[in-house]
Amino acid sequence: MKAFIYNGNEFQHVERETPVPTGRDILVKIKAISINPVDTKVRKMVEGTGESKILGWDASGIVEEVGETVENFKVDDEVFYAGDITRDGSYASHQLVDERIVGIKPKNITFEESAAMPLTSIAAWESLFDRLQISAEKDKGKRLLIIGGAGGVGSIAIQLAKRVAGLVVIATASREESKSWCRSLGADGVLDHKKDLKEEMDLLKVDNFDYILCLNSTDYYFNTMAEIIAPQGKICSLVSTEKEHNIDILKKKKCYFFMGIYVHKVHV
Ligand SMILES: NC(=O)c1ccc[n+]([C@@H]2O[C@H](COP(=O)([O-])OP(=O)(O)OC[C@H]3O[C@@H](n4cnc5c(N)ncnc54)[C@H](OP(=O)(O)O)[C@@H]3O)[C@@H](O)[C@H]2O)c1
Repeated sequence: MKAFIYNGNEFQHVERETPVPTGRDILVKIKAISINPVDTKVRKMVEGTGESKILGWDASGIVEEVGETVENFKVDDEVFYAGDITRDGSYASHQLVDERIVGIKPKNITFEESAAMPLTSIAAWESLFDRLQISAEKDKGKRLLIIGGAGGVGSIAIQLAKRVAGLVVIATASREESKSWCRSLGADGVLDHKKDLKEEMDLLKVDNFDYILCLNSTDYYFNTMAEIIAPQGKICSLVSTEKEHNIDILKKKKCYFFMGIYVHKVHV
């Protein structure tokens, strides 16, 4: 197979033996990949270690071979997935992936479009429905703030929160293009994160949020989120902190605070 490897120093095109799937692995002939920020994070982990790795995890393709205990896929199925960062990735002609983290590619989108979906969509879905535990049946009309609404995860989260759960979605964005992009995806309102968020909320006549999804600096937004979350509301942030924070300020609101998601693991 052809692979584009990172050798800890530079990228190289190489020929490698095509791997043979065993167990629940499937061998996918890659048709399209997308590039995600996680690729650069893994590249940094490999840098200077002397190891080499195939980067890239979002992909779509066609199943070429299946392991002996695969249950859900057969040869020629069209699939898409975010893969597993602990294994070799998708910058290659072929990739092994565990069938338990693979989905059938939707028929109404192309391979390129479907390769752009998995990681951002899983992150948005998991944040909204697993961490924040938003219920499509019970939470219609509740208010969600997405900090960083026009980014990869935010742009999918706006659509899911609106179309699946019927929430009132307010997103933050700072540029005219990103503000109108958020509105076109279904955001009911946009706050400019380059301005004072409380003042921006006053303009929209919103005094608090039942849910907040933070996709930008938790350090910067921690105190503001504690202030604008509704009593017993829920906050989920995907962004690691670099500073210590006083969690006592959340006590006043009796709110929930979740950090992070699991997306890269196969849960068995
Ligand atoms: N991408 C993924 O698949 C993925 C998966 C799991 C976890 N995560 C994590 O989720 C977080 C968001 O990732 P992402 O890829 O969605 O981000 P991204 O696409 O890089 O986000 C870009 C957006 O950030 C906004 N932004 C810039 N400065 C901001 C500020 N001061 N306050 C609020 N928003 C600001 C920008 O809005 P304007 O241009 O309008 O200013 C821009 O639309 C990261 O911590 C990432 O590690 C991402």
